[in-house]
Amino acid sequence: MSTPTSLATERPRLVHTAEELRAGVQAARVAGRRIGLVPTMGALHEGHLSLVRAAQAACGLTVVTVFVNPTQFGPQEDFDKYPRTLASDVDALAACRADLVFAPSREEMYPAGCSTCVEPPAVARRWEGECRPGHFRGVATVVLKLFNLAQADVAFFGQKDYQQAAVIRQMAQDLNVPVEIRVCPTVREPDGLAMSSRNRYLSADERRQALAISRSLRWADQLAAGGERRAAKLAEAMQGVLAEAQIRQIDYVAVVDPDTLEPVSELAGPAIALIAAKVGTTRLIDNWRIERT
Ligand code: PAF
Repeated sequence: MSTPTSLATERPRLVHTAEELRAGVQAARVAGRRIGLVPTMGALHEGHLSLVRAAQAACGLTVVTVFVNPTQFGPQEDFDKYPRTLASDVDALAACRADLVFAPSREEMYPAGCSTCVEPPAVARRWEGECRPGHFRGVATVVLKLFNLAQADVAFFGQKDYQQAAVIRQMAQDLNVPVEIRVCPTVREPDGLAMSSRNRYLSADERRQALAISRSLRWADQLAAGGERRAAKLAEAMQGVLAEAQIRQIDYVAVVDPDTLEPVSELAGPAIALIAAKVGTTRLIDNWRIERT
């Protein structure tokens, strides 16, 4: 029988300054351990924890960052109400054996006078880039800062933020950052809803309504599996599923090339179906890889 001691999980080290993070990482590097980085904004769910487990499996030191990055939110967006749950995040990270948690203050990341930012690559231009001006500049800037601070060998991101992962991969390549980017599968609730920290904003009715997003992506996938090649038809079918669920505030529904994220007209190979829509006041995004059969 397990004793309470054997069940106890070791707490990750929680640090708040760049200096402490550098020192923690440096010690592991000297000991020859590979560094894995999982950047997050906290309010952790199973999607984040799957990234932490992937980092644990591949690396000798797993660093998780928890920082609600102000520069990636627009003035009308949810920066102020974004959930901040550091204590329970650290509990969850202890349970999946993360080693180091970096939870800096705003001043630590952006001290007075800090004014340099990263101009994101071309793949940032459409979709989220159009709907959320400045968003990817904020993401690319903070992620590059985290790469520089953590000196990670491998960084883990979720496929749920498909365009974000593409932007970060291109940014790392263009700026010669010696980090491998790994993109892990979207984790879904049993009923198909993609896990997101923003799901907690949804009322019970909105949560039911939100299921139409993953349903419409799966429907496009089924139509493609049945031989439909025309991207416009797939997009129309997705719009139809959203309309049936009374989801009317749609930012985009698109079928795009997996690398460039440019719209495709015909499925000539794999493609990504993308959706961004508001359910009530909550903006949700999701995507699905469609294989040409
Ligand atoms: O995906 C997120 O949670 C954020 O955009 C990231 C990558 C942690 C940067 O703030």
